Amino acid sequence: STCPVSLTINGQIRNFDLHPWVSLLDLLRGPLELTGTKKGCDHGQCGACTVLVDGERMNSCLKLAVSLDGAEITTIEGLGTPDDMHPMQKAFLEHDAYQCGYCTPGQICSAVALLKEGHAHQRHEIREAMSGNLCRCGAYTNIADAIEEVLG
Ligand code: FES
Repeated sequence: STCPVSLTINGQIRNFDLHPWVSLLDLLRGPLELTGTKKGCDHGQCGACTVLVDGERMNSCLKLAVSLDGAEITTIEGLGTPDDMHPMQKAFLEHDAYQCGYCTPGQICSAVALLKEGHAHQRHEIREAMSGNLCRCGAYTNIADAIEEVLG
């Protein structure tokens, strides 16, 4: 059977009837067509699926959508648009902080949460705080540069 769930997704309230096993990631990429959020490992290992849940970063592949009733979800699509980018999106662009781009939405969502967490200041702290977001192209230096710039 299905369960009713209400979520605010990128500022819009949406109501669903979901099977309890549907992950937030599959809800986003499937019915909602928010395919900016990527599926890498589907097991909490890579961070490609990172989104913001009530402002905190979360691996959406590990979270059952029905467990999030009432939560506010922000995906890369909700952070900014090409004409009105979030400062972190701008910084990633300016620093070439990606190669293939697959991990980028998760990197950016994670970095936005890291700003709010407020305990990464030095470069090694940024690298440590971002260690849950893997980049198979190895763009780590430029990713850290972008984050450092936004941290000021
Ligand atoms: Fe969720 Fe890899 S797809 S952590």
